[in-house]
Amino acid sequence: MKKTATLIVDGKSYELPVMVGTDGNRAIDISRLRKETGLITYDPGFGNTGSCTSSISYMDGEKGILRYRGIPIERLAEHSSFIETAFLLITGELPTKEELSDFSAMLNDHSLVHEDMRHFFERYPRGAHPMGILSSMVNALRAFYPEIPERSEEAEINKAFARLLSKLRTMAAMSYRISKGMPVVYPSYFLSYCANFLNMMFDSAVRPYVIDEDMVSALNVFWILHADHEQNCSTSAVRLVGSARVNLYAAISTGISALWGPLHGGANQAVVEMLQEIYDRGGDPAPFVARAKDKNDPFRLMGFGHSIYKNYDPRGRIMKKMCYRILEKRDFNDPLLDIAMKLEETALRDSYFIDNKLYPNIDFYSGMFLRAIGIPLDMFTVMFAIGRLPGWISQWKESREDPRGKLCRPRQVYSGPGKRDYIPIPERKPKEVNGRRLYPQSVEKTFETKYRSSASYL
Ligand code: ACO
Repeated sequence: MKKTATLIVDGKSYELPVMVGTDGNRAIDISRLRKETGLITYDPGFGNTGSCTSSISYMDGEKGILRYRGIPIERLAEHSSFIETAFLLITGELPTKEELSDFSAMLNDHSLVHEDMRHFFERYPRGAHPMGILSSMVNALRAFYPEIPERSEEAEINKAFARLLSKLRTMAAMSYRISKGMPVVYPSYFLSYCANFLNMMFDSAVRPYVIDEDMVSALNVFWILHADHEQNCSTSAVRLVGSARVNLYAAISTGISALWGPLHGGANQAVVEMLQEIYDRGGDPAPFVARAKDKNDPFRLMGFGHSIYKNYDPRGRIMKKMCYRILEKRDFNDPLLDIAMKLEETALRDSYFIDNKLYPNIDFYSGMFLRAIGIPLDMFTVMFAIGRLPGWISQWKESREDPRGKLCRPRQVYSGPGKRDYIPIPERKPKEVNGRRLYPQSVEKTFETKYRSSASYL
């Protein structure tokens, strides 16, 4: 029987279809709401809004479940490689042996970056954040490589995806090397995707990098865990920008920018910075927990809480185990890990965190893992971006092929002034914030403001 929900507005009732997803998750279809009722919905942060149907990843935040194309994340972390998982996400199925080796060869073929792009890298100021560099470099790729025209052949589309997957990894390593004033290491045809990345990061003419297969497997797992996460902030950004039919590179560049934020992917860097601060102040996490609970303090416990997970983040569990394994193998006792454990214990015993269902998320332990494998702090979110790329690509592809796809254009409830008259300049009052005038500002006057009359701007 077709299910519906009844909405009653001003005494009139409307039947709205109820959609049911694969695992029984339900949604009220309001796509005709405005047309039929003149009303819109109000949902800041879109926490109650399904923006699309998708067959890529499935999450159950209450039960702590994550699956890619139906396969539990735990199974993929145990058995798959990052490249195989990327293939699964993009095409919908696990590859056969031949398909996998073909895909790997294609990634190898496209791993070099146009030499002219090096000039871009070299002109960035030293100390520029690699996420900013990566986002603009990905956008710049469009100037060097062709766009995917509408109605392209599947092979052409796959080539563009392989190009991006491969080059993003090369560009990430390149940006790190150049920012440190080190010579660029080119990708090798004889190394796997993950081994190649480690080699491009750490090889040196005076100290050749010895590939450690345990590090390579750990990196595979790290990237598998980050590969997709349904309609998270950066993926939604990719879909939203992509809905304007911009090219793939521009859409992915938007995703990278969104990921950079500390409430999203930037949390892996923010967690380590927070742990370092706790360490520097004597190692007691209690004052930080107290600050996180104080509603008058904007501070949040980084690496805790999630928009969807109201239980342990299943990726966090795997990451924590892997972190310990690598630290043990490297015989490295990281004092920040002890702080992290103390903090986790303190928070998980605290009623604020219990009542709000705030558990450690993937970023709580991923920063510790990245430290353990020698990745510098400002590269942490770049590592996340490389991992998330197959997800962004799959979601971009799915939205492009969606027959119900539309230009994304949310509405708003306007809350500004009602209609009012235009006031001539002499009658206007200066703007004040907390009793102080906002303009003129105390910045040094530029040539423009010093020498041109303000009238010339009008
Ligand atoms: N520290 C303190 N309080 C928190 C935290 C936190 N880390 N997270 C949520 N809360 C509070 C919220 O302010 C909210 O309080 P309120 O009801 O009084 O307003 C309450 O707990 C419930 O929050 P949620 O609705 O469950 O979470 P929300 O959707 O608001 O935020 C977010 C989710 C942004 C991830 C938040 O938990 C946060 O800022 N965490 C720290 C940053 C972080 O680790 N981000 C990475 C997330 S994973 C990822 O994107 C890869």
